Amino acid sequence: MFVVIEGIDGCGKSTQARLLFEWLKGMDHDVLLTAEPTKNKIGIFIREILSGSEKVDPKTLALLFTADRYEHLENEIKPALSDGKIIISERYYHSTIAYQSAQGVNREWLIDLNNYALKPTVTIFLDVKAGVAVKRAEMTEIFENKNFLEKVYTEYLRFDDIKRVDGNQGLEIVFDRIKGIISELI
Ligand code: TYD
Repeated sequence: MFVVIEGIDGCGKSTQARLLFEWLKGMDHDVLLTAEPTKNKIGIFIREILSGSEKVDPKTLALLFTADRYEHLENEIKPALSDGKIIISERYYHSTIAYQSAQGVNREWLIDLNNYALKPTVTIFLDVKAGVAVKRAEMTEIFENKNFLEKVYTEYLRFDDIKRVDGNQGLEIVFDRIKGIISELI
């Protein structure tokens, strides 16, 4: 099973991914908790761009995220799936489509670019609006500002292949909803 957790910066996805990881491990499942951008070479270069120390065209950034994803998929996700593991990934191709369209890149081009990517079993979207999210998290990277995240949020709402979970509730309530979704799949 391949679970993806998506949402704008500050939506609480790292916390929920960690809770899900611990919960599944506690039930004796073999689980891989992973994230994009990755910690590999391309991911490290992406971090430099996100910090503002390097600048590239938004289309180049989309290609970099997608290349980072290809490596992630081939070298980590697919082998883990073959080993029968449950994979939890913080972010996957919906992030590229939402964030890079918000940067002005053509949405269809981004969808086509990511067509190669294996479809997750489920993608959970933690629905938190930009105004709430910016108050929650420390915002230091280039995309971490209210105006931009509002655009990203609007892009996320256009997907029809994601499960929306209200992320405004308390941590436990949000996690109960996620557990409900995952329980039906395992
Ligand atoms: P994020 O999940 O926020 O990492 P961390 O919590 O470790 O800072 O991801 C970093 C940023 O990258 C975030 O602003 C979303 C952005 N991003 C894209 O713009 N496109 C993508 O394809 C991905 C995976 C992330």
